[in-house]
Amino acid sequence: MKIFSIVGARPQFIKLAPLSAALQKQHQEIIVHTGQHYDYAMSQKIFEDLGIREPDIHLETGGGNQTTQFTQMLSRLETAMTDKNPELVIVFGDTNSTLAGALVAAKLNIPILHIEAGLRSYNRAMPEEINRIVTDHVSKYLFAPTPTAINILQKEGLGDKSFLTGDIMVDTMANNIRIALQKSAVLNNLKLETADYSLLTLHRNYNVDDNTVLENLLNQLGNLSEKIIFPVHPRTRKMLSPAYKIPLNIQMIEPQGYLDFIALEHSAKRIITDSGGIQKEAYILKKPCITLRTETEWVETVEEKWNLLVNPTSKNIAEQIINFKTASGQQDIFGINVTVKMVGFINAIN
Ligand code: UD1
Ligand code: UDP
Repeated sequence: MKIFSIVGARPQFIKLAPLSAALQKQHQEIIVHTGQHYDYAMSQKIFEDLGIREPDIHLETGGGNQTTQFTQMLSRLETAMTDKNPELVIVFGDTNSTLAGALVAAKLNIPILHIEAGLRSYNRAMPEEINRIVTDHVSKYLFAPTPTAINILQKEGLGDKSFLTGDIMVDTMANNIRIALQKSAVLNNLKLETADYSLLTLHRNYNVDDNTVLENLLNQLGNLSEKIIFPVHPRTRKMLSPAYKIPLNIQMIEPQGYLDFIALEHSAKRIITDSGGIQKEAYILKKPCITLRTETEWVETVEEKWNLLVNPTSKNIAEQIINFKTASGQQDIFGINVTVKMVGFINAIN
């Protein structure tokens, strides 16, 4: 089968890696990179770390404002799909690249497969929530990462198209964690000891787009006694004013490659984040996770007491973090050998 795998943002490259490695053995897979993320550290470095081959088509839509970028994605994807005639279009997650790929394929009547279907935060102020709902409803095949996602799809009348596959990020982690621990020099380079630091990431619009909110958050994290390693997303970097004096315990670093980042996660005392994927990785690595949001799509991690939601506007963030104790055991939320299941379903489409 001729398949388009459409990606554009960092977490999508991480989801693509194991699937692409398997798909290209049996199908004619064409990797399409929209260019949504374009810095070396946010894109090429992740491809290199994960051994993903160069994209076959690069749409070069990086930079510019969101609307320009999105409209360029639509028109360039239409040209690429009309030119190559894929029989299946695979989209991942919930970014603007996901929505663009799904909309164009839907208009051209090409079957769409959505990986990470059925996620909902029920917060329409997140651009990702709209992207997910629309993508799920125009797709022909929905690969759900968890039973919760399957239930949501059933409630929305999409049960017949839905398959419980597990979460593909489990496989990316399983394939790479040992390599990361052997190869990564990041702990040495940053002079860190295991469990003597917390790891922080922030990039959600409501946490970083208003620099008063962002700086208040960081000031509160300054009340923690441990060192905080903070790889700064480009969106967040743009919002921090040069005059802002970050608390002394927080060390800002560039966005990390995947191997260095999972090595940092693996040795951290705890992980503080507003990322979707990092909440899952914290669970998989059995790390306490503090999510600086009022809701999450990954409700199971909270129900199981491995993830604590902390309202980013609350006044006692450090106290809530210090008092959080995880459960001792874990269920199997995200599945295993997910790629094999996904490829099995895809082969059955053929
Ligand atoms: C996007 C996704 C979000 C995902 C995140 C993963 C949407 C709506 N949002 O958010 O769901 O969680 O990626 O990281 O699709 N920028 C750079 N260099 C880069 C990438 C971005 O400077 O390599 C800048 C952009 O120019 C823009 C800002 O960062 O000013 C935000 O980028 P954008 O892709 O719009 O959204 P993200 O916050 O990265
Ligand atoms: N990640 C990375 N380097 C970093 C920060 C994150 O490689 O400096 C990886 C992380 O391991 C996870 C993914 O990026 O697999 C999460 O992406 P992000 O937080 O950008 O987006 P989200 O998951 O929220 O959509």
